[in-house]
Order: sequence, then C-alpha cells, then structure tokens
Amino acid sequence: MEHSFSLQTFMLLTLVLCFIPLGNTFTVIIPDSSSPSALVDAPQTGFGLNNNGARTDIREQEAVYDIMRATGNEWATDIQDVCRGRWHGIECMPDKDNVYHVVALSFGALSDDTAFPTCDLTKSFISPSITKLPHLRTLFFYRCLTNNPQPIPSFLGRLGKSLQSLVLRENGHVGPMPNELGNLTRLRVLDLHKNDLNGSIPDSLGRITGLRSLDLSGNRLSGPIPSLSFPRLNVLDLNQNHLSGSIPTTLTNCPSLIKLDMSRNRLSGPIPESVGGLENLILMDLSYNSLSAPLPMSFKNLNCLQALILNGNPTMSTTIPTNMFDGLKDLTILILSEMNLQGIIPESLGRLRKIRVIHLDGNNLNGSIPKNFGDLNNLSELRLNDNMLIGPVPFSRDTIWRMRRKLRLDNNSGLCYDTKSGLGDDLDTLSGSGIGKCGTPQFGIITKQHISSNTGGTHEFIIGPKSAAGRVQQSSVCMMLLQLIANFLLLAYLL
Ligand SMILES: *[C@@H]1O[C@H](CO)[C@@H](O)[C@H](O)[C@H]1NC(C)=O
Ligand SMILES: *[C@@H]1O[C@H](CO)[C@@H](O)[C@H](O)[C@H]1NC(C)=O
Ligand SMILES: *[C@@H]1O[C@H](CO)[C@@H](O)[C@H](O)[C@H]1NC(C)=O
Ligand SMILES: *[C@@H]1O[C@H](CO)[C@@H](O)[C@H](O)[C@H]1NC(C)=O
Ligand SMILES: *[C@@H]1O[C@H](CO)[C@@H](O)[C@H](O)[C@H]1NC(C)=O
Repeated sequence: MEHSFSLQTFMLLTLVLCFIPLGNTFTVIIPDSSSPSALVDAPQTGFGLNNNGARTDIREQEAVYDIMRATGNEWATDIQDVCRGRWHGIECMPDKDNVYHVVALSFGALSDDTAFPTCDLTKSFISPSITKLPHLRTLFFYRCLTNNPQPIPSFLGRLGKSLQSLVLRENGHVGPMPNELGNLTRLRVLDLHKNDLNGSIPDSLGRITGLRSLDLSGNRLSGPIPSLSFPRLNVLDLNQNHLSGSIPTTLTNCPSLIKLDMSRNRLSGPIPESVGGLENLILMDLSYNSLSAPLPMSFKNLNCLQALILNGNPTMSTTIPTNMFDGLKDLTILILSEMNLQGIIPESLGRLRKIRVIHLDGNNLNGSIPKNFGDLNNLSELRLNDNMLIGPVPFSRDTIWRMRRKLRLDNNSGLCYDTKSGLGDDLDTLSGSGIGKCGTPQFGIITKQHISSNTGGTHEFIIGPKSAAGRVQQSSVCMMLLQLIANFLLLAYLL
C-alpha cells in the first residue's frame, strides 16, 4: 500500500510543519491580533533572565497537571511552572501583569520529530479540568484515546470564549457529536477526522459563523447534511461517512470554499445549480455517492476549479452538457468514470489547456474522441476505456509516448488509428488489440503490446483489461490530489 503510506506521510509532514514551533526555545506564541483577547500584545520576552517575576496562573497550572495526569503524563506534575516546562505541546502567553496563561495544548505522536506528549492509549481521557483554561485557543489531540474509546466530552463547549482550533484527529471518539460544540462560536478549525462518530451532524454547528475549516471525514455520521452558512469556510471535508439526502443548496452561503469533499457518502439527488456560486473552489470531490442528473450548467462558472471528481455515481446516467467545460480554464484533473454517461465527449473538454488527467472510463460514451484532444499538450493521463467510442485516435506518436501506460483506450466499439497520422508503423501491432487501422476491420483483445522507442528500448504499452497499470495511474492522481490537499491542510492550520 505504497500510496496510503504517502498519504500519511504527507498529512503528517503537513501537520508537523504546522505545529512545530518555529525555531525558538520558548513556548510563548505571538498573540493573534485579529481576535480580541484579554491578553496584551506586549513584546514576547519569554522567560529570559530579566523576566524572573513571571509565573503561570495557579489555577491553570493545576488544570494542566490534571490534564497531563489524565493522559498518562504524570511526569509533568513534577514541573514547578508548566509554562516554563518547555515541552512541545504547551504554549503560554503573559498578560499585562506578567502572569502566564495557557493558550495551546497538543498531544500525540505525530512523528518521531514532534515532541508533543504522547498519551497512554489504554486509559487516557480528556480531563474536565480543561474548562479551567479560559485562555485556551488551540486544543490538539492526535491518536490519544485510541484504545479507550469514548464520546467527545460536551464540556468542551464551555471553552467557547477562547477556543479557535479544536483538533481531535484519529482520536478514538465514539458516539454522536455533542450539540455543545456549537457553543464554540470562535472556532476557525474543527477537525474530527477519522474517529468513530455516529449520529447526525448537529445543526448547532451553524452558530460557528467564523469557521474556516470543517473536517468530519472518516466517521460514520449519518442523516442529512444540515444547511450550511459559513461565509469564511475554506475547507469542507465530509468524505467517508454515511450521510444521506441531497447536497444542500445553501452551499452558496459558503462562498469562500476552496475545497469541497463529500465523497464516499450516500448522497442522492442532483448536484445543486448553486455550486456555480463557489467561485473560489479549487477542488470538488463528490465521488462515490448516488447523485443523479442533470450535471449543473453552472459548473462553467467555476473559474478556479482545478480538480473535478464525480466518479462512482452510476445513478448520474446523463449526457455531458456541450459547454460544461467552457469556463473551467484552470481544470487539471477531471474524473468522471463510472457514471453511466451517454452521448458524445464534448469538444469543450479539448479546449482545457491545463488539463493533465482525464478519466472518462466505464461509461457509455459514443461518437469519436474530439480532434482537439490532440492539442492538449499537458495531458499525461487519459482513460477512455470501457466506452463505445469509434473513429480515429487523434494523438501524435509523441503524445502516445508521453502517456504510455497512462493511456487506456481498450474495450471501445471501434477506435482506430489513421495511418497518415504517423502512428501506423509503430502501432501496427495494436491491430489485434481492438485498435486497428481506420477502414479495416479489427477484433480481439490483447493486453500488452511492445513498441520500440526512438532510443531503441522497448516499453510496454498496456491497452488491455485493468492491471498493474491501473494502480500506477491511480497513485499518480493520488499524488497530485495529495499535493492539493496538503496545501489545503497547511492553509487550514495556519489560519
Ligand atoms: C452550550 O450549548 C447548550 C446546547 O446548545 C446550551 O444549552 C448551553 O446554554 C450552552 N452553554 C454555554 C456555556 O454557552
Ligand atoms: C452509535 O453507536 C453506538 C455504539 O456502536 C450505538 O449504541 C448507538 O445506537 C449509535 N447511535 C446512532 C445514532 O447510530
Ligand atoms: C502546461 O503546464 C505548464 C506548467 O505545468 C504550463 O506552464 C503550460 O502553460 C501548460 N501548457 C498549456 C498549453 O497550458
Ligand atoms: C450516441 O448515443 C445516443 C443514445 O445514447 C444516440 O442518440 C446518438 O445518436 C449516438 N451518437 C453517435 C454519434 O453514435
Ligand atoms: C466494456 O465496457 C462496457 C461499458 O461500456 C462494460 O460494460 C463491459 O463490461 C466492458 N467489457 C470488458 C470486457 O471489460
């Protein structure tokens, strides 16, 4: 599973980058000027020699001891002043009386390089004393309660005055999301990725109007997606849940969305026309649902969209609107496999100058491959296999060499090559593969062909049924997506 390894590495790297305090020995952080705070924006002198008067608020100190004990980190109770303890994972800030307050707590072994306190997996819990940290802005738990599954404590809702970032990632939580999370009205980041949460998404989240990133992916959340209205939301990730019903039309009230991922749920009904209002959207992934026709005409307004992923919605069963791709000038990844698409491939797709990956395989597309596909200089991966396409393959030898294994044309009705195109001599051997010379009958399926390159080497050109090549292609798309996603994560955590 090399690509799930990359996925993790990517995520971890991203998280690590975001959470390692940058090159200083203090755990003091710079105040965030955008949100009002009781703490002063004084120069951060930390705990230098000339700062002997500073000490940590006593109540908060006791609370930190409790929290550390609850995660199996009893060692911390030997530390005289927790804000001077200098362990990664605690951050403090002074107020104007030089009393230090805890503003961030982080737990979990992100990687060998991060020294956040690890948790005793078998008995850790989140101590209620956390509510005694009135200045806490960031609470981060990663894989902490894994072997001691428990609900997300509702008392976290009492941190509403200060908390801006709540991350309980792969943390072993079960049961429903508490309504009280809606009390955290200052949150910018809510990340509950990959727990075992069930029940529905509480409507109370709607109160968190300043939310920038909402990641509830990888749980067992069910029921409908509540109506959404988050003017500043950049990242909405609900992938891999059991959510049903339709995609809310209120998405348009989230005009700042950059990433929208609702893949791998049980969503039905059409994609609302209102998605066209998401003018900043870069990635839209609605794959593996049961979405139905029509494809929204408003897609063409998504001028920033780079990845459109709708595969695995066999219920879509429609034609691709002729001008669907007209405005998608930044599109680089288009995945529309296995959607029961019919009719022809629109020429507007061949005008997307930046497109690198096109998957239209496993549909019922007919007609021929648009001639202008031959002009797509950045196309490096094309799957048109398992359709009903006919006519000449409009690619030059160079293009075919560029794509090599990432070109899949097998199992169509009558694709052929034009000998005048220069493909002839090289691809003669393809005539037994389902792709013959135009004008001559061709039949049969062969899985591998060898064609010689200019340099005299021999390469496999796989045009047959799914094989190792499929995996290669999959992982290259994954890598591209991961880069995108890593950027989003970075963005989300840096906010
Ligand atoms: C927290 O939320 C609950 C339910 O939404 C509400 O009843 C309660 O008053 C809230 N508490 C605080 C402290 O805001
Ligand atoms: C959530 O899961 C728990 C334990 O598996 C179960 O008892 C409970 O009924 C589930 N709740 C919902 C709303 O599905
Ligand atoms: C292909 O991509 C490169 C960068 O990846 C870009 O500079 C170039 O303009 C693209 N070509 C076209 C035809 O868009
Ligand atoms: C493609 O299939 C549709 C029916 O799905 C049919 O109406 C149309 O004539 C076909 N077009 C071509 C070019 O074969
Ligand atoms: C060929 O493609 C069609 C879809 O157009 C699919 O139903 C069929 O199973 C494919 N045949 C093979 C041998 O893969």
